[in-house]
Amino acid sequence: MAKLWAGRFQKELDRKVNEFNASIGFDSRMFEQDIMGSIAHSQMLGESGIIAEEDSVKIVDGLLGILEDIKSGKLNIDYNEEDIHTFIEGELTKRLGDVGKKLHTARSRNDQVALDLRLNLKGEITSIKELLLKLLDALCGIASDNLDTIMPGYTHLQRAQPVTLAHHLMAYASMFARDVERLSDVYKRTDVLPLGACALAGTTYPINRDLVSQKLNFGKVAFNSMDAVSDRDFVIELGSALSIVMTHLSRFCEEIILWSSWEYKFVELDDAYSTGSSIMPQKKNPDIPELVRGKAGRVYGNLMGILTVMKALPLAYNKDMQEDKEGIFDSVDTVKICLEVFTPMLLSCKFNKQIMAQAAEKGFINATDVADYLTKKGMPFRDAYKITGQLVALCVEKNYSLNSLPIYKYKDFSPLFESDVYDAINLKTCVEKRTSFGGPSAESVSKQISIVKEFIKGNA
Ligand code: ARG
Repeated sequence: MAKLWAGRFQKELDRKVNEFNASIGFDSRMFEQDIMGSIAHSQMLGESGIIAEEDSVKIVDGLLGILEDIKSGKLNIDYNEEDIHTFIEGELTKRLGDVGKKLHTARSRNDQVALDLRLNLKGEITSIKELLLKLLDALCGIASDNLDTIMPGYTHLQRAQPVTLAHHLMAYASMFARDVERLSDVYKRTDVLPLGACALAGTTYPINRDLVSQKLNFGKVAFNSMDAVSDRDFVIELGSALSIVMTHLSRFCEEIILWSSWEYKFVELDDAYSTGSSIMPQKKNPDIPELVRGKAGRVYGNLMGILTVMKALPLAYNKDMQEDKEGIFDSVDTVKICLEVFTPMLLSCKFNKQIMAQAAEKGFINATDVADYLTKKGMPFRDAYKITGQLVALCVEKNYSLNSLPIYKYKDFSPLFESDVYDAINLKTCVEKRTSFGGPSAESVSKQISIVKEFIKGNA
C-alpha cells in the first residue's frame, strides 16, 4: 500500500512494522467525525479562497457520499491502511481524482486526529451523562417509595444509627450527580478546536479557524498551535471522571453483593440479573454487580496508561500519542455498558423491608438517641454518653435491647429517665426526628429527592 507520505522514501514499510504502526484497527470508529471535520475544513478552504469554491463543493459531496456508503455498508473500511484519515482521503481521491488531493491543504494529521478525538469524545460525554441522568431518575423513584423503609446505617460495617433505604440511595444519587457535573466540566475543555494548528506551527494560508469552529459547533478555538496538537489533558480528565464513576458504581455494587448474601438478605436480585453455578444447584450469584465492580479495574488501568504515556513527552506531537485512543475508548465503552446494565438491574431489585427493619432492631443503633434524651433533659452530652455506654453493656450482658430494658433499670443510672424514653428511642422516632438538612427523616430525604429532580431537569 503506497503511503501518503511515500515521496521521501525508497523502500516500502516492513510488513510487521506496517501493522505495528497502524492505528486503523481502533481509530476507524471515528470515521464520521473524520468526515465531518474534513467537510468543515474544505468548506472553509473554499470560502476563504484557498481552493476554488467548485472544488470545495465537489470535495464536500464526495465526503458525504463516502459517509453514506460506509454507513450503509456499501464501502468497507480497508484495514490495511495506516489510519482512518489516510483511508478516507485515499477513497476521496479514488472517487474525485486530483480534486480529492486538495483536501489536505493547510492541515496535518496531527491537528486532524486531535479534532476527531475531541469530536468523538464530546459525543460520548453527552451519552454517558444521559445514562447517569437515567440512573439518577431511577434512584429518585426507588427512594420516593422507601422514605419510611428503616434500615441500619453503618460505619466500619458495624450497625451505627438508623437511616432509611431512601436516605442510603440518595447518598449514591449525590455521587452520580457530581459525576454529571464533572463530565460537564470535562466537556468544556474537550470543546476546543485544534484544527488549523496544522503539524505544529500553523500555516501561511489565510485560514479561518473561527469559521471551522462555528461549523463544527466548538465553544472555543485552541489559542496555541503547539499545545493544540499535543494536548491530551481532555483524555486524562475524561479517564479520571470515568474512573470516579466506576468507583461509585463499584461501591454500590459491593453493597448490593453484600445485601444479597444470606448474611444480610436485604435485597434479592431479579433472576434476569443473576446467574447460577455449574455445580451447586442452590446458587444464585450476583455476577452482574461483581462484574461491574471488577470493571472498575480496567478503567483505572486506562487512566494510568494515558497518564504514563503523556508524562515526559516533549512538544509537540509524538507518535506515543497514538496510544491515547484504545484506553479511553475502552473506558467509554465500559462505563456505558456498566450503566446500561446497572440501572435496570437496580430497578428490578426486590428490597426486603422486613429484614432491613429487623436488622435495625439489633445492634443498639438507637444508643445515640438515649444519650441525646438525657442531654435534652439537661445532662452534659459527655456524661450522657458514658451512662448510655454502661446501659448498652448491661443490655449485652442481660440480653436486652435498649427498647426492652425495664424503666427501673434505666432509673438505676439516672433519675432523668422517664417512661417517655421508649418513645424517644423508637427507631421510627429516631429517624423522623432527624430533620436536619441532609438527614434521614422522610421530610429531609424528600428535599434531597427534589434537589436531584431539579438537577436532572437542569441537565436534560
Ligand atoms: N494515527 C495517528 C495518531 O493516532 C495520527 C496522527 C499521525 N501523525 C503523524 N505525524 N504520524 O496519533
